[in-house]
Amino acid sequence: MATARPAFRCLLGDQEIALDAFDGQQTLLDFLRLNRGLTGTKEGCAEGDCGACTVLLGRSENNQLRYQPVNACIIPLGTVDSTQVLTVEHLADPQPHPVQIEMAKAHGSQCGFCTPGIVMSLAALHYACDTDNFSLDRETLNDALAGNLCRCTGYGPIITAAQQALAQPIPDHCRSLQALGIETLGKWANDDTYLQTKGVANIFAAPTRLAGLTELMRALPQAQLIAGATDVGLWITKQHQRFDHIIYLGQVAELKRIHRTDQEVQIGAAVTLAQSLEVLEDLAPDLGTLLHRFGSRQVRAQATLGGNIANGSPIGDLAPALIALGATLHLLGPNGERTMALEDFFIDYGNQDLATGEIIRMIGVPTQGHEYFHCWKVSKRFDQDISAVCGAFNLQLDNGTITSARIAFGGMAGTVQRARQCENALVGKSADCSALDPGAKALQQDFAPITDARASADYRMHTARGLLERYLRTISGKAPDLLYPASATPVLSAHG
Ligand SMILES: Cc1cc2nc3c(=O)[nH]c(=O)nc-3n(C[C@H](O)[C@H](O)[C@H](O)COP(=O)(O)OP(=O)(O)OC[C@H]3O[C@@H](n4cnc5c(N)ncnc54)[C@H](O)[C@@H]3O)c2cc1C
Ligand code: FES
Ligand code: FES
Repeated sequence: MATARPAFRCLLGDQEIALDAFDGQQTLLDFLRLNRGLTGTKEGCAEGDCGACTVLLGRSENNQLRYQPVNACIIPLGTVDSTQVLTVEHLADPQPHPVQIEMAKAHGSQCGFCTPGIVMSLAALHYACDTDNFSLDRETLNDALAGNLCRCTGYGPIITAAQQALAQPIPDHCRSLQALGIETLGKWANDDTYLQTKGVANIFAAPTRLAGLTELMRALPQAQLIAGATDVGLWITKQHQRFDHIIYLGQVAELKRIHRTDQEVQIGAAVTLAQSLEVLEDLAPDLGTLLHRFGSRQVRAQATLGGNIANGSPIGDLAPALIALGATLHLLGPNGERTMALEDFFIDYGNQDLATGEIIRMIGVPTQGHEYFHCWKVSKRFDQDISAVCGAFNLQLDNGTITSARIAFGGMAGTVQRARQCENALVGKSADCSALDPGAKALQQDFAPITDARASADYRMHTARGLLERYLRTISGKAPDLLYPASATPVLSAHG
């Protein structure tokens, strides 16, 4: 049985850190800069957008140590317990990393403020090339840099530096850091302890088993749950909220599993978007495309499926797609487990069907019935932007006639919602553009969207109709040519 350990620990570069007294809510960025004097990591926006604070987080995954770029500005320190953290200083000791050398040579260090974050994102890709099969094409580099926003000069010299640097071997000192990470994290994984700070007033707990989690939830039903903290981190940095008690879900083994049966893929609520990418892309290629448009690599390395659903955001990107696929939600609380259709979870704006002391345990996504599934996200920027509208469509056809329909939209109402009138209007029609007018008319009964900073009500309604048209054209083989197919998106349009 796992036992509570009151001291926080992590491997910072090659140094083991142990802290008896620590503030679990302090951000990793503040800890690095203020407590450790590692000021190479910068603060730009403090909300996960600009990437100036990017560091590498090394975690054990499938018996391997994987480094991922994360935004230190929104990560509470307690959530990096038992991981390895690498900053730009560690890459440069004793000699600069190839990325640093090539950035200097190609004049890729521009305003300078963003440079450490850019270096860390490229170093993460360098490490990833070692374990994953990457072709270092422009698309891969764009994706790696999508979470590092440059507004001064552009990406040309940075891309040149990346191409030069990533063709070189990983330097010895970085290999040594990795070897030490494998050894130390392996040792920690075997001691079967979990972090739980002492004290009555403020508790930060990171249970590693579901049994331990439910016990804690019974004792502290009002505790703030944190998974990837890509939402909660902003409540700390931007709204200056403090929580009496925090329970971190990201170490609970049962919440981090992906299990495939003949009927469904079961994804634990604490699985990150990065970890779910392969299985979801395999299920439906459009889901992979959607996930690549979700935030940035830094955000996807932290954000979880459970968090994206639990926050009930009307512009959350996964919910429309998962609803159209017929996903179910498995909740666990003081009264046991219950299962519901995902769409039933969203009651109203800011109101989800989640009782006090209850968590999302798992999301089940059917493996069949999505031959005609498609989804599209429409946002002002290609990367690192929240949807104005996200539409997901899944029709069942018999000889070209629509026999049933699941259609869901984000950005069209106070919650992500099924377009029931539109679905009803389509059933019995031919699956081609002749279904557009009745379908689009019904959409106006389904939704009365609002105007806000992202889009006007009119724009949203037109976009929903446009996505329906695109869907009908796609499944009937009459899709219009795209201006920018995903594979050809130029780097400057991705960011500027
Ligand atoms: C820069 C940036 C870009 C973003 N881009 C996108 C985007 O493109 N698309 C998009 O949809 N979202 C986006 N987001 C929003 C956010 O990243 C996602 O909603 C993310 O999936 C939230 O997951 P998390 O694990 O980080 O949640 P957290 O911040 O940890 O938690 C969010 C809420 O969910 C609750 N919660 C978490 N897990 C559970 C659980 N298992 N059971 C019950 N409650 C739980 C928490 O208590 C909290 O109330 C972005 C955020 C940032 C900062
Ligand atoms: S400071 Fe901008 S992403 Fe962290
Ligand atoms: S490198 Fe910082 S804004 Fe361009």
